[in-house]
Amino acid sequence: MNDLKKIGLDAVPAVGLGTWGIGGKTMPDHSKDKQWVEAIKYAINNGMWLIDTAEFYAQGHAEELVGEAIKGFKRDEVFIISKVWYTHLEREQVLQAAERSLRRLSISYIDLYLIHWPNERVPLRETLSAMQELIDKGKIRYAGVSNFDLQLLLKAREEMPRSEIVSDEVKYSLWHREPEKDLLRYCEKEKIALIAYTPIEKGSIANENFLAEIGKKYGKTAVQVALNWLIYKEPVIAIPKAEKFEHIREDAGAMGWRLSPEDYKAISDKYKL
Ligand SMILES: NC(=O)c1ccc[n+]([C@@H]2O[C@H](COP(=O)([O-])OP(=O)(O)OC[C@H]3O[C@@H](n4cnc5c(N)ncnc54)[C@H](OP(=O)(O)O)[C@@H]3O)[C@@H](O)[C@H]2O)c1
Repeated sequence: MNDLKKIGLDAVPAVGLGTWGIGGKTMPDHSKDKQWVEAIKYAINNGMWLIDTAEFYAQGHAEELVGEAIKGFKRDEVFIISKVWYTHLEREQVLQAAERSLRRLSISYIDLYLIHWPNERVPLRETLSAMQELIDKGKIRYAGVSNFDLQLLLKAREEMPRSEIVSDEVKYSLWHREPEKDLLRYCEKEKIALIAYTPIEKGSIANENFLAEIGKKYGKTAVQVALNWLIYKEPVIAIPKAEKFEHIREDAGAMGWRLSPEDYKAISDKYKL
């Protein structure tokens, strides 16, 4: 089965929970806090115990809700990813942003901390050496990047000699297959996790009849087939965002089974690069 993936030395679930929209988008929204906390707990209890959040999401409120939701779990029962925004990439800014995220999440360390977007105005070396400091102080366990193309990922690896860059989080779905040009192959060879965001195209993949037809053989839905197709590949972890309980249940059901090689190929061919 392909349900557990590697991030650094850790085993994590192949499908985790995205949180863009939980607690608001660009502004904090408190209107559904209780519901959102329950949704995150429900995802964890259904096996989606890797949570992807960021200081940018709802100006930190998404992190607060994640922090609230994980209170009842032991720290190693969840794997928390957060990200530093691209305007905070100077050394002091990174250190302070991480402290703020830790406070909002109410935890003493973040499992994986990502550079959310590259910013050529700040030398990558400066940001990554701040990330190294955070690792050395035990504030984060792993460092990674997001929205880095292969060339930039290679540069990042060079600029962080003492620690591995364990992941690149990029947009990847059946309809958006750019990572297959070179990044995916590289991640596979180098054992770097490729974290696929917007993996179900905001829910639109649910309307794909072709996937629904294939899913019938397995007792699975179009969304479950689309997610299983993503995680079929060794380095890929998918992080759909869901707050409706039936969506969370459905997304978690993308794990625990595997497409046949023939169906995997048929799907790959149908939605060409
Ligand atoms: N690093 C980056 O730059 C970056 C960029 C974009 C996203 N991300 C991360 O990736 C996560 C996922 O991406 P995303 O939020 O853009 O898009 P997405 O996961 O492709 O789609 C989320 C939408 O799909 C719906 N949905 C979830 N499960 C469903 C199902 N089984 N059937 C039908 N609809 C379903 C959700 O509805 P409900 O919520 O109503 O249940 C929500 O509206 C984000 O939340 C964020 O954590 C990272």
